[in-house]
Amino acid sequence: MNESFKFKADNPAVSGLRPSAFSDFAGQSRVLEKLRIMTSAALRRQEPLNHILLSGPPGLGKTTLAMILAAEMRANIRVTSGPVVEKAGDLAGMLTGLEYGDVLFIDEIHRLSKTVEEYLYSAMEDYRIDVMIDQGPNARSIRLDIPKFTLVGATTRTGLLTSPLRSRFTLQARLDYYDAKNLSKIVERSARLLRIIIQEEAAFEIACRSRGTPRIANNLLFFVRDFSQQNSEEITLAHAKEALLLLDIDEHGLDEMDKRILEVIGQNYGGGPVGANTIAIAIGEERQTLEEVHEPFLIQEGYLQRTPQGRTLTSKAWHLLGIDHNDL
Ligand SMILES: Nc1ncnc2c1ncn2[C@@H]1O[C@H](COP(=O)(O)OP(=O)(O)OP(=O)(O)O)[C@@H](O)[C@H]1O
Ligand SMILES: [Mg+2]
Repeated sequence: MNESFKFKADNPAVSGLRPSAFSDFAGQSRVLEKLRIMTSAALRRQEPLNHILLSGPPGLGKTTLAMILAAEMRANIRVTSGPVVEKAGDLAGMLTGLEYGDVLFIDEIHRLSKTVEEYLYSAMEDYRIDVMIDQGPNARSIRLDIPKFTLVGATTRTGLLTSPLRSRFTLQARLDYYDAKNLSKIVERSARLLRIIIQEEAAFEIACRSRGTPRIANNLLFFVRDFSQQNSEEITLAHAKEALLLLDIDEHGLDEMDKRILEVIGQNYGGGPVGANTIAIAIGEERQTLEEVHEPFLIQEGYLQRTPQGRTLTSKAWHLLGIDHNDL
């Protein structure tokens, strides 16, 4: 499989700003606690880790945690993703190339095809797979043994995973949006690594406007740095505020698209209920992006509700839009 590649989990070229150990990873304390327990027990037993499923919205650290797990286990990691593994043969090739204790990381695991998924069941459970070779009358299946490995799956959509697959993971860990305090720590850490001087209040300001997401926090930090470099060496609160204003990110962390979504539901559909497809068309965005990126944050922040009939605005959203919805 040429799309997958193998590297040591602590290769700096691929890690960038990614924390490479549990001790470097801010937030998600409940998830971290469980992962620490599992890794230290597995290390003590000198056995590979059990299979782990990481879920949650984009940019919260699923890939990072997969790499950390491999690093903490001092294991090699092999990386691939659901849509890349097209045929059972791809999976078989990949599994038989593993060594004892390796971590196989399958990103977007909810996008594996049904057939590939079924092959994965026996690999996860019994560490073997039966592959069919030849076709027609010569068709026969051969059994291949696979060294004991750890599957780490990542998904933005646990709901799309079949329950047989889900249940084969010993631990299913869900990552949540970060609070401003932890995001602030992440911004400060990234600044240190990039040798950026940033005031504490400026880091906090970036944290508050990052939609609870470390990836966004880092991206905002990059932009704010570029912005402030025009004037000074140090990023001040004023720089941060001005730069973020330029990016159209408001003080609640909502970006243009978040606001469009709320506006469309409020102004075109009387606050809902309205279906996801309709909203996606109205804002000119993929339904998947709407559901995986924007909605979870709007729901978590209490702007939007998901009901069986569709999406509806909450009074917090009406307030934000500055509309008295009782008048509608
Ligand atoms: N807890 C954390 N502490 C510090 N940095 C973090 C943390 N979590 C994530 N990051 C940073 O955020 C970036 C995004 O994280 P990551 O790629 O692991 O997200 P993801 O959940 O895999 O996203 P996606 O669903 O889009 O694949 C990483 O480059 C990493 O530097
Ligand atoms: Mg990822």
